[in-house]
Amino acid sequence: MLIDLKIWLKHFEYHAGRRVVLPEGRPYTLTDCERRRIAKSIATFQLGEQSEGRSLVRAAYEYERRHDEAPVARVIELLIEEEQQHATLLGAFMGQHGIACKNKDWTDGIFRFVRRQAGLELYLSVLITAELIGKVYYRALECATDCKQLQALCRMMVADELAHIGFESDLLRTMRARRSHFARFLISVTHRLFLASTALAVWVTHLRVLRHAGYRTRSFMRTCNAQYSFYLGSSLPADRTSWKRA
Ligand SMILES: [Fe+2]
Ligand SMILES: [Fe+2]
Repeated sequence: MLIDLKIWLKHFEYHAGRRVVLPEGRPYTLTDCERRRIAKSIATFQLGEQSEGRSLVRAAYEYERRHDEAPVARVIELLIEEEQQHATLLGAFMGQHGIACKNKDWTDGIFRFVRRQAGLELYLSVLITAELIGKVYYRALECATDCKQLQALCRMMVADELAHIGFESDLLRTMRARRSHFARFLISVTHRLFLASTALAVWVTHLRVLRHAGYRTRSFMRTCNAQYSFYLGSSLPADRTSWKRA
């Protein structure tokens, strides 16, 4: 058994038994202006949270078998269930406030296509890109209306996303530590470029929510890039190049 994986498994199992629910409180009707500001944007993120992650789980079991690193796949299964719960909560909020769901979106389609193309490392790199930008987005969405219910929902989801990002960055940094210096450099440059282009696409498609939260193009890009630097920018300490006990 691996030290950090045990802790992550406990974390996700604990939360699986204590799913958050849509915060109740005094009914709040979104103003027309607020609804127009968030409707398309929140529907796109709700769609993105819906993934069943079948190819991710398959890749995780394959990785686990090859590297003898159980229970990586179980942790990822629980993480995906938590994402689906986000989709349910957002969907419930949207239903209560007369916001229509989306069945497809070009940004979601690109993410799904890229994720299906390769093994666990690439899959996780794409996933964590969405999570890092999503964390910035949900904080912006919290400021987009005066609806206390949406504000509480955003805070709950950011708390979950922090754990998702913590686990994914832990796993990715361990995977990357096995590679040569040059390969790590190339991966880092490519990943930063992917994150920057994704953040730009998110900026363009969620402009109203992000601008209302006080972001401008440069500050939003800088904030997303800072997320990458914080979680994936530092090199892995030598004693953590393997999760196995000595
Ligand atoms: Fe999520
Ligand atoms: Fe997440």
